[in-house]
Amino acid sequence: MKRDSTPFPYETFADKDTFYGRTNEVKQLKKLFSTSNNLLLFAKRRMGKSTLIKKVMRDMEKDAIGIYIDIFDISSEKDFAYALINGLLNAQKGDIKAILKRIGKVFTKSRISASFDPLTAKTSIKIGTVSSTFEELIEEFFTALFEMSKSKKIILAIDEFQQISTIKNVKIDALLRKYIQQPYKISYVFLGSKRHILNSLFQYKAPLFELASPLQLESIGIDDTFEYVKSYLKINRDVLEYMFELSDGETKLTQHICHILYDEYKMKKEITKELVDEAIKEILILKNESYKILFNNLTTNQKKTFKLLTKYGTNIFSGSKLEEQNIEKTALQSSLKQLFQKEYIDKDTDTNNYFVPDRTLELWGNKILN
Ligand SMILES: Nc1ncnc2c1ncn2[C@@H]1O[C@H](COP(=O)(O)OP(=O)(O)OP(=O)(O)O)[C@@H](O)[C@H]1O
Ligand SMILES: [Mg+2]
Repeated sequence: MKRDSTPFPYETFADKDTFYGRTNEVKQLKKLFSTSNNLLLFAKRRMGKSTLIKKVMRDMEKDAIGIYIDIFDISSEKDFAYALINGLLNAQKGDIKAILKRIGKVFTKSRISASFDPLTAKTSIKIGTVSSTFEELIEEFFTALFEMSKSKKIILAIDEFQQISTIKNVKIDALLRKYIQQPYKISYVFLGSKRHILNSLFQYKAPLFELASPLQLESIGIDDTFEYVKSYLKINRDVLEYMFELSDGETKLTQHICHILYDEYKMKKEITKELVDEAIKEILILKNESYKILFNNLTTNQKKTFKLLTKYGTNIFSGSKLEEQNIEKTALQSSLKQLFQKEYIDKDTDTNNYFVPDRTLELWGNKILN
């Protein structure tokens, strides 16, 4: 860990010094990747999917080339193709000239160039805009990928994979299927948090059906969390459990609370439940403005629904609760659907219950609104 930096990163990915827990998951992923199997990794938001995949790629660096691509902001099929190609280009190691020469042999149709970014002091290789069709770009990408896989295993991770379902004019999943099934030493990893969308992409009869082993990531274990946290904070297990429960096992919120406590007290003071409450309050104040804007944009019925959901969780259809907010059952049901469509709330695919996926937002609703 660098000096001045926190042992509890909550906005950047934990690195080799700050990653903790997940021993079983790490082992399981390494096993899958060492035999070039594919993986569908899903979890609620902010549990640590991206961090985990980056950790395993780091650990396996000697044996496999890790290509990590985040497609959260794609808005067309070509964006998707460029994201794949740029991910592959940036996974190249070594002398830039040599890379360009090597890559130029495969990417014959595209313009590939290197540029220096003075902000990061890094040179990155990028594809320029080209007239090639989407299918041609994808073909070029996989040709390069297959070529690379002949010298070393590859782990190709596509983060926020559910985004491909927002692209309607081409069937990306059907096209991917064709390439994924080829017998090369490549593990394809699909990550995401929208379980219902991911499910539909990998369900029976869908093009990607049975092309990846699914793994649902749960919270980091409480024992592992305690083991790590207690080397940086004077905290007993009771208080740690209290904090864990408040953050509902959401890794990012646990990390944020710990960071605030560490910043303030380090090992100088015994952490109490009251200090945990204060840290949460600080986080809620920090978020207050943006959450207020979000809330004020809702209709009256949506506001009532959001209040009930953040106060009581799933069990909100009883008469007394409807009365409390003066809302009809049908209005509650349609507001839930609208909030779901706006992506403020999510739906558990097993129970069909709605929930607020962002624990900090849920706590804000619970503690500030109610
Ligand atoms: N095993 C871990 N050890 C330490 N910190 C972790 C671990 N896993 C996650 N974190 C921290 O929690 C935060 C959230 O993790 P990450 O962004 O990987 O979650 P995610 O599931 O990919 O979230 P999102 O749904 O927003 O993409 C990060 O800041 C990360 O540093
Ligand atoms: Mg992520």
